[in-house]
Amino acid sequence: MQKIIIFDTTLRDGEQSPGASLTIQEKLVIAKQLSKLGVDVIEAGFPISSDGDFEAVKIIAQKVKGPIICGLSRAIKEDIDRTWEAIKYSNRPRIHTFVATSQIHREKKLRKSKEEVLNMAIEAVKHAKSYCKDVEFSPEDAARTDIDYMCDVVRGAIRAGATTINIPDTVGYAQPEEFAKRIKEVFEKVHEARKIVISVHCHDDLGLSVANSLAAIKAGATQIECTVNGIGERAGNCSLEEVVMNIKTRKEFFKGYFTGINTKEIYPTSKMVSQLTGINVQRNKAIVGRNAFAHEAGIHQHGVISSKETYEIMDPEEIGWAGENLVIGKHSGKHAVEKVLKELGYDLNTEQVSEIRKKVKELADKQKEVMKEDIIAITNDMIGKLSEEEEIVKLEEVKVIAGNKVTPEAEVKITIEGMEKTGKGRGLGPVDAVSHAIFSLIDPHIKLKEYNLKAITGGTDALANVTIKIEDKQGNVFSADGINEDIVMASASALVKGINKSLAFKRGRK
Ligand code: KIV
Ligand code: ZN
Repeated sequence: MQKIIIFDTTLRDGEQSPGASLTIQEKLVIAKQLSKLGVDVIEAGFPISSDGDFEAVKIIAQKVKGPIICGLSRAIKEDIDRTWEAIKYSNRPRIHTFVATSQIHREKKLRKSKEEVLNMAIEAVKHAKSYCKDVEFSPEDAARTDIDYMCDVVRGAIRAGATTINIPDTVGYAQPEEFAKRIKEVFEKVHEARKIVISVHCHDDLGLSVANSLAAIKAGATQIECTVNGIGERAGNCSLEEVVMNIKTRKEFFKGYFTGINTKEIYPTSKMVSQLTGINVQRNKAIVGRNAFAHEAGIHQHGVISSKETYEIMDPEEIGWAGENLVIGKHSGKHAVEKVLKELGYDLNTEQVSEIRKKVKELADKQKEVMKEDIIAITNDMIGKLSEEEEIVKLEEVKVIAGNKVTPEAEVKITIEGMEKTGKGRGLGPVDAVSHAIFSLIDPHIKLKEYNLKAITGGTDALANVTIKIEDKQGNVFSADGINEDIVMASASALVKGINKSLAFKRGRK
């Protein structure tokens, strides 16, 4: 049996998705969940890129045990030094270093010759190796690199000490057959490749990242780099859940291969990542989309009722799909909430559990019935809550006037590090008016770039989940979310959370 190593880069390449900025605390929570999911490697960030990234990688290395903790660095000495400073706290550290090898990247981006790039790769691996025995090297834009030159760089990196070679399709250009051929050629042309791990890292620009990664497995790759929900640069990365469920569901096709993923943690992880990054999962997304197990056509429903296997190739329970079934009524006790949290696999302390119980009870009092989805939303909201230090601005009070015969107006009271301020705003609707009132108090240059509203379980008394993206004057984008039974309050909370993220970023705390 051959284990396929699952290298998760949600916190590095995934966080590079436009607008997906996570706080250090949110990254730590996701890393803990990834460990529970059973990933083998967590690429926790790119430490040289910002102080916030450095701190996040460091705290993950200190606190998350189990998976290998990896940090990314360009093939530059200072990058590697900084990465080591952050990951050295892990009992299983890995340095991942990369340099672009394709002609277009060498000539237009790096302005370096083939020999210079080859030397950079060798020197970088040697330097990384002086700190850490586990070193990964990637020839960036490998899929568009001349194969013989790519193999020279791969050979050089292995001889310098790389223990994993990752072949990235950086721009999502490859087709499955040609990508598989490239991997086979690595084994044929570089004999040393048999002694180390060959990995792949595929982007989804042409929608082929999962197909390319699966084809690479058949060609001998044993590590797949992927992200939860497939988030990442541009169209994203190879989706973790899709690769894992292909290997598991098509056992006879992927005979002899397995992963260490606890598939029951897939759905809770997907929910957590989508809520904390503010990137919604498309409804029809394979495995974790809301419609992935919904049967609409009468003929399908009839088939599924007679025998699930007629139209379902996977059991939703296999991926931990909790469904939207009613769990808590007005009179259900605390044990019911605890049971659901346990079932969902959240690792919470007693204080957190009692805060969730309190919120669920409040909701049950108003809404009468609370669904599992509500509990997931309340829990993720609590996990993503900013720390005292990060909560520079606090929302104190919101008043709105709206209707068909008046211009919507809002009055908002906030405190900024204890100092009370009140602002007014007008808008096209109550939410617009609230956003103008809030921005006028902090910085009128902040722009609301994206606004999404979702009723968690449906009905006019449902919990509203608002996700937003705001942009500051310098063009930095921050995402945040808020939940409340009142749409205006959920919006105001999300806006204030986004502002806090931008202020913390400005202060270098990200
Ligand atoms: O897409 C890419 O090439 C990368 C490398 C840093 C591995 O993300
Ligand atoms: Zn990438």
